[in-house]
Amino acid sequence: MKKKIAIIMGSESDLPIVEEALKILKDFSVGYDVKVLSAHRTPDLTSQYAKRAESNGIEVIIAAAGMAAALPGVIASHTNIPVIGIPIETKTFKGVDSLLSIVQMPGGIPVATMSVGKSGAKNAAIFALEILALKDKNIKRKLVNFRKKQISAIKKIKVKI
Ligand code: RP5
Repeated sequence: MKKKIAIIMGSESDLPIVEEALKILKDFSVGYDVKVLSAHRTPDLTSQYAKRAESNGIEVIIAAAGMAAALPGVIASHTNIPVIGIPIETKTFKGVDSLLSIVQMPGGIPVATMSVGKSGAKNAAIFALEILALKDKNIKRKLVNFRKKQISAIKKIKVKI
């Protein structure tokens, strides 16, 4: 399967959150490349990856990071393809640190920042698919079905009062 989406996380400790994005991409049968790369611990490897991503066939990059979460911004600085950021929840500041680090990009280098944690990871994958769906009818069809299923599941809920 052609790898069109890259999922980069700042640390292996981010995996339990990133799994939510991986689940969605697996369900949609879309190829992805997944790596641990850090803006601070492996800066050269990170910039190399970001610079080569587009020529390697990657169309969207999802980057998850916590604390002083420079990863999505640094990746975005090295590529013109869209970058989606997932702020990882942290013990000390509950992920507000990660959120502000990712969302407060200077004008000119955008990162599409999702919410903190699992919902953010899930939405990052859906958002990446929505970008691919602009020119991929098969993904578009699956996204429409995904919404339909979500509506049916909510309709089935019977609240006992
Ligand atoms: C960030 O630092 C990572 O994205 C992770 O969320 C956080 C802590 O990393 P570890 O110390 O758990 O490796 O770069």
